[in-house]
Amino acid sequence: MSDGAYSAAYERSLTDPEGFWGEAAEAIEWTVPPTRVLDDSNPPFYRWFTGGRLNTCFNALDRHVRDGRGEQAAIIYDSPVTGTTRTITYAGLLAEVSTLAGALASLGVEKGDRVVIYLPMIPEAVVAMLACARIGAIHSVVFGGFAPAELAARIEDAQPVAVLAASCGIETTRVIPYKPMLDAALDRSSHKPESVIVFQREQCRAEIGERDTEWEELDWAELVADAEPADCVDVDATDPLYILYTSGTTGRPKGIVRDNGGHAVALRWSMGNIYGIGPGDVWFTASDVGWVVGHSYIVYAPLLTGATSVLYEGKPVGTPDAGAFWRVISDHGVTAMFTAPTAYRAIRREDPDGTLLAAYDLSSLQTVFLAGERLDPDTWAWATERLGVPVVDNWWQTETGWPVAANLRGLEPMPIKPGSPSVPVPGYAVHVLSPTGGQAPAGEEGAICLKLPMPPGTLPTLWNDDERYLSGYLSAYDGYYLTGDGGLVDEDGYLFVMGRTDDVLNVAGHRLSTGSIEAALAGHPDVAECAVIGVADDLKGQVPRGLVVVKAGVDAAAEGDRIRRELVQRVRDEVGAVASLRQVDIVTALPKTRSGKILRRTMREMADGRTPTIPGTIEDVSVLDALGPVLRATP
Ligand code: COA
Ligand code: AMP
Repeated sequence: MSDGAYSAAYERSLTDPEGFWGEAAEAIEWTVPPTRVLDDSNPPFYRWFTGGRLNTCFNALDRHVRDGRGEQAAIIYDSPVTGTTRTITYAGLLAEVSTLAGALASLGVEKGDRVVIYLPMIPEAVVAMLACARIGAIHSVVFGGFAPAELAARIEDAQPVAVLAASCGIETTRVIPYKPMLDAALDRSSHKPESVIVFQREQCRAEIGERDTEWEELDWAELVADAEPADCVDVDATDPLYILYTSGTTGRPKGIVRDNGGHAVALRWSMGNIYGIGPGDVWFTASDVGWVVGHSYIVYAPLLTGATSVLYEGKPVGTPDAGAFWRVISDHGVTAMFTAPTAYRAIRREDPDGTLLAAYDLSSLQTVFLAGERLDPDTWAWATERLGVPVVDNWWQTETGWPVAANLRGLEPMPIKPGSPSVPVPGYAVHVLSPTGGQAPAGEEGAICLKLPMPPGTLPTLWNDDERYLSGYLSAYDGYYLTGDGGLVDEDGYLFVMGRTDDVLNVAGHRLSTGSIEAALAGHPDVAECAVIGVADDLKGQVPRGLVVVKAGVDAAAEGDRIRRELVQRVRDEVGAVASLRQVDIVTALPKTRSGKILRRTMREMADGRTPTIPGTIEDVSVLDALGPVLRATP
């Protein structure tokens, strides 16, 4: 590895974190500068920029308008599913955000209150997030592909005073009404918000106030028509900006907390140093505001930077074809794009020779960034050859909020090794630990851990649950945060991420919990017990497979087809179609340890055709023999 800017920055970030991040913090405007850069007075709970006060929305909008960027595009909304494109300038976005912020304030939403946002990829989603930030309310965006049970779990935990929703989302081939799902979620949740504000889309208008509800239902357009714009409310650097729920192994999602100060500093730093994007550049992230990639790199990082962010309501294929991304890049002069590897696999499947590229001018494109799941070398090579620009993997997770490992294109571009997201990003002390807690030697696999303290922008804790933060992330190795991924570091210091070591699923870059899907299966009246495992899939990286044992007295031979059909439907209705569960097998027994733990990993290995790890504590090894043919059969 060269001895340039990267090594110097990395070294300094670990030996002098206060100096390093103190300097980075100068890129953010504070109303009161921090008194301490790193507050380590209460380990393992570390806080960044204590004493500092700021407003994230001010830094994302007002300051750019004040400094002359008012007429620059902040957002280019490009929506092939509705056939619309709309450019919103920084001044225009500021006006919309201030008005909605005023409307929320008029409903009594205050600093520290939670607001759930259930909106698809439309400008109103960005407006809603920033309006919350403006008045110091804490937003919690729920991905539109999640069905009522998932939405209800988030409402139950976040206890929002208000919910902002759209009347519908639009998928490639169908319109998805959101209001019935929201109503069902609110019926299930013991917590009820005071207000539900619905943004009406003409593709499917929602009925507002038609039900006898405990909460007030309001029309978004009417509400903002009467609202007075609101100014920015100062918050502490350590006050939460948002909660984003992510999937663990159980059915109960984890509320990842993001603070204001550390987040703004880290994201602004990452945009220049990792992604090589500066003010005025056009940046296109094809993801969804419901995921962390959307929070960080559709909304906050580009706007904090004064760049232009493309908000794309469409798919990589089918809207209308596999040239969709190339059209967006050429129409808007995109400098760099970011998406999940699955999207490129989908494009490749439809257009293996990349013939659709010829129709577009991609001369503005300098880099493609991919993250959210493992970037397989094959897809990397295909994209690199077809596009002729660096295709850059980066590895991180909802908890960290920004890359842990990357090839830092702004700071010091490095040679790319296919299959590796390159090197640890400054601020992150990445260690591969063996089961005994020692450092794994170069080239040897272990648990990827981050030595505490982690840099600014990473989660300080879980929402209302310090205990779960400690037990879920910090208890495996003393002084380290457990990422949940396994991998290795090679002799050049490059990290290779092999995949989750727990039962978290990653389906088309979407993080899902085996527990949620199992809960949906277990709720079927004929199911005695069940297990869900993630198996390899050429397009989506991984897809879930369900294995169920039916109750005594249920005739699996006669009723099997009906039960399997109903189970697939249940998962769509409870978790969401995005879970992509298509295969459920009825089996006679599930393999377990003597203490009753289901051996999902063993089944996963069998399904993927690998040699299974069979623990000595297995209760009955003959169960595996019976399962073998089922697991190895592909649909
Ligand atoms: N709202 C409602 N439903 C949604 C949804 C949303 N926001 N997103 C997906 N769904 C539905 C889809 O319509 C589909 O339903 P179906 O089973 O009735 O067809 C189902 O969930 C599965 O969706 P998806 O995973 O998108 O699969 P697909 O086969 O339709 O498309 C890809 C495959 C590769 C094109 C698609 O997965 C994709 O674009 N992936 C990129 C992933 C990404 O951006 N991840 C973000 C992390 S960086
Ligand atoms: P999420 O929190 O939804 O962003 O999912 C994070 C998980 O996705 C990580 O823990 C990894 O398992 C996986 N992941 C994300 N990016 C990558 C990557 N570049 N390479 C390998 N796995 C990744």
